[in-house]
Amino acid sequence: MSSLTLQSKHLLSVADLSPAEICALVERARDIKRTPDAAKPLQGKTVALLFEKPSLRTRVSFEVGTANLGGNCLYLSPAEVGIGGREAVSDVAQVLSRYVDCIVYRCYEHAKLAELAHYATVPVINALSDDEHPCQTLADLTTVLEQRGSLPGTTLAYIGDGNNVARSLGLGCAAVGMHYRIASPEGYGLSPDDERAIEALAAANGGSATFLRDPREAVAGASVVYTDVWASMGQEDEAAVRKEVFLGYQVNPELMALAAPDAVFMHDLPAHYGEEVPEGFLDHPQSVVFDQAENRLHAQQALLEALLG
Ligand code: CP
Ligand code: NVA
Repeated sequence: MSSLTLQSKHLLSVADLSPAEICALVERARDIKRTPDAAKPLQGKTVALLFEKPSLRTRVSFEVGTANLGGNCLYLSPAEVGIGGREAVSDVAQVLSRYVDCIVYRCYEHAKLAELAHYATVPVINALSDDEHPCQTLADLTTVLEQRGSLPGTTLAYIGDGNNVARSLGLGCAAVGMHYRIASPEGYGLSPDDERAIEALAAANGGSATFLRDPREAVAGASVVYTDVWASMGQEDEAAVRKEVFLGYQVNPELMALAAPDAVFMHDLPAHYGEEVPEGFLDHPQSVVFDQAENRLHAQQALLEALLG
């Protein structure tokens, strides 16, 4: 069992973790994957999964991971709680804190997550908000470590929308001294504040961050090529416009051929075929997307152990 503890009580943003904590969690995730631990640090503990958006990976990996650690999970679907509608966020936080030991919350507005964490007396984990997806980043870095053998100095090219996944991934890559390149269409990149934060973090940790328009320039010689959907959950109304805007940002065999010859392809999933990737691309010989999905389980076990164990 790991003795890792984290400074922050909650995980709302990748920025809540120090570079050393990120590295330790990723190493621990890799150890858990290699040698499953018989210890049950969550024995007698209950984790609530409070979800306002659908999920496959996040829900299942938290449920299975909690069970593997000896704890219980409780799933509250988008239709049930009405957080911020039927009941105030502050009241939901205080009530749930009397029953459970951790709240894993998937939401739209990041401010609601911050409010929940403010009023909760138990740890709150961001299971994806409109702004960030830190659990995905922990699994992504675990996958890069597994595939590349080391994180510092590795170049990752993210192609597409400057969304929650791109923001958390940028912060994560920067913290561990990777070279993060992102190519997005004009008006769909990360905000100037995000760019500055990622750039400063990368500089402080021996990495770099480059913000581009041209996907070919981003991918050139990269060791990891990463993409995500063009329209995230909650942006369904913009999907048609985004399909036009993001034309030319598809990761396909032609774009992949510009990366390093042994580069790997990553995607947090779900994939939208015919948009950010062509049909069948997840089965490309360079794709590691299903290892990446599996690593959600190991990374979150490492996180739950550190926050609750
Ligand atoms: N990658 C990810 O978070 O997947 P789900 O939306 O299915 O949980
Ligand atoms: N950016 C995507 C990630 C899904 C896991 C979304 O927010 O829908």
